[in-house]
Amino acid sequence: MVDPMKTQEKQVVGICLSALLSCLLAGIGFASHPVPWPRGRAPSPKELDAKVSSAIELAEREQMEEFLEASDRGEDSEHIFVLQKDIDANKYDVEQLFQFGDSTFEHEHRRVDGFGDSETPRLQRVHQKARGGLDSFSCAGCHFQGGVNGAGSASQNAFYFGDGARISSAVVRNPPAVLGLGMVQAIGVEMTRDLQWLRSKAERMAQEKKQGVTIPLMTKGVLFGSIRADAEGQIDTSEVRGVDSDLVVKPFGWKGHTARLRRFGERAARIHFGVQSHTMALAHKDNPTPELLGAGERWWDPDGDEVQREMEEGTLTALAVYMALLEVPVLIPPHDPSLQRRWAGGSELFDRVGCVDCHRRALGLNSVIWQEKPDTTGGAGTRIQLITDGEPPRGEVGVVQLFSDLKRHDMGEELADVVQGQPGIGRSVFLTRPLWGVAETAPYLHDGRASTLDEAIRAHGGEAATQRASYEQLSDEQRANIHIFLLSLTREPKLRVER
Ligand code: HEC
Ligand code: HEC
Repeated sequence: MVDPMKTQEKQVVGICLSALLSCLLAGIGFASHPVPWPRGRAPSPKELDAKVSSAIELAEREQMEEFLEASDRGEDSEHIFVLQKDIDANKYDVEQLFQFGDSTFEHEHRRVDGFGDSETPRLQRVHQKARGGLDSFSCAGCHFQGGVNGAGSASQNAFYFGDGARISSAVVRNPPAVLGLGMVQAIGVEMTRDLQWLRSKAERMAQEKKQGVTIPLMTKGVLFGSIRADAEGQIDTSEVRGVDSDLVVKPFGWKGHTARLRRFGERAARIHFGVQSHTMALAHKDNPTPELLGAGERWWDPDGDEVQREMEEGTLTALAVYMALLEVPVLIPPHDPSLQRRWAGGSELFDRVGCVDCHRRALGLNSVIWQEKPDTTGGAGTRIQLITDGEPPRGEVGVVQLFSDLKRHDMGEELADVVQGQPGIGRSVFLTRPLWGVAETAPYLHDGRASTLDEAIRAHGGEAATQRASYEQLSDEQRANIHIFLLSLTREPKLRVER
């Protein structure tokens, strides 16, 4: 475990009297975020002084950035323009990429950045089919509840795949927090590798034995049904469960529809701001996708807003590196002894009632090294160490306390979407939402329909109907103990100066 105090020392920013601009951008560690509190105890007066100073310094720097941007318009946009060839040439280290990602996440997008397109010049609440919004100006504008990079309130709900006008035509989604996602992506990759290895194993065995072979698809203790290969090695995926037939575990989005952070960031910028990635435009040149990008005459400006190269490949890398290195949610039990007893009881009930059948307490992570690979340049990729790089707290080597199996489940008609969203995933099918950090992410469930944990749990149906029934049979006190336990899945407290 990384000592948050030590890492914090590394973060503290030197006072920059000269070269303010370059100081704002370079060499400032992972310090653009609120200052972590030492876990489980009150800080000493000296620590508190240091933390207050850092928090004030951060607030002052943020204000200075705004002044600079006002005095030299476009200055802010420069930080979000990152060329992949510069990353490939090792021009930036991981910390700088984190800063660029941070700037991109916070950036209020505008016309010069490619905000908007010729068809939807203004904000509208409901998306138009797969094309999207516009419904917002910045990533941070929807992800801030419970702290920086947090979730969204009910009023930040997004309305996907609609007709551009009626909310009832759209799929409703509440923004989750974007914390700890590097670990989540890495676990997904390892699970995918295991599942695809099992598929090749079935093929090999069937060919060797010259007869059909069925093997269970088990990875990290989670069973994804089974796969069958016939004597010729043909694969039958009809018994595969909770993952697409390509066996790629996609841990992002309420439906588990996306495997990689750079693709999520790319899609979010496109559908919320109309900011299109150059990587997508390049692909569009060979295989036009007007339904996603627009029918502009020039392939390099598919949305016809006269801005080209709206989001660089390098910016996608910076966004992915940034999200991979954000803090990891933590488990902080109550300090009060009687509440602690109730917390322990709730924790035990969480297992006994069968919540853990889906909300697995932890998933193993074999490799903490992550290579964020570019899309088109053939560069070697940016190497991240998920435990030692990034914002504290980082979690422990080997186990990630995610409270999910990263598998999709049929949750029954009551929770189903009214209209079809992502193609190929049933209306009532959702990924087990990781419960880490759940204390700070109300409202709950994919559309934010539940304002309390109790409502969220009682809305479980389908594959979770038995567990819900057991939960309902508990006494009021026992249910409250489960809530106390869930409220310990939270974020490290931070000091922040508000303006
Ligand atoms: C209009 C509000 C809104 C804006 C703006 C927005 N998001 Fe989101 N974000 C959401 C919603 C809603 C979801 C859930 C989407 C889903 O389930 O498909 C989400 C999900 C995510 C996830 C997946 C998290 C998980 O655990 O599954 C990531 C990553 C993410 N957003 C990143 C971004 C980035 C990067 C940006 C800016 C480029 C951004 N978001 C802008 C609303 C927003
Ligand atoms: C069959 C698998 C399954 C079981 C069993 C299960 N859950 Fe869930 N849980 C899910 C899925 C899937 C979601 C996301 C539903 C959605 O997207 O609306 C979810 C969502 C939640 C949420 C809302 C999280 C959020 O961020 O909005 C809470 C809280 C929760 N579950 C708690 C529990 C508890 C407590 C139990 C045991 C009584 C339990 N779950 C049993 C699959 C399961």
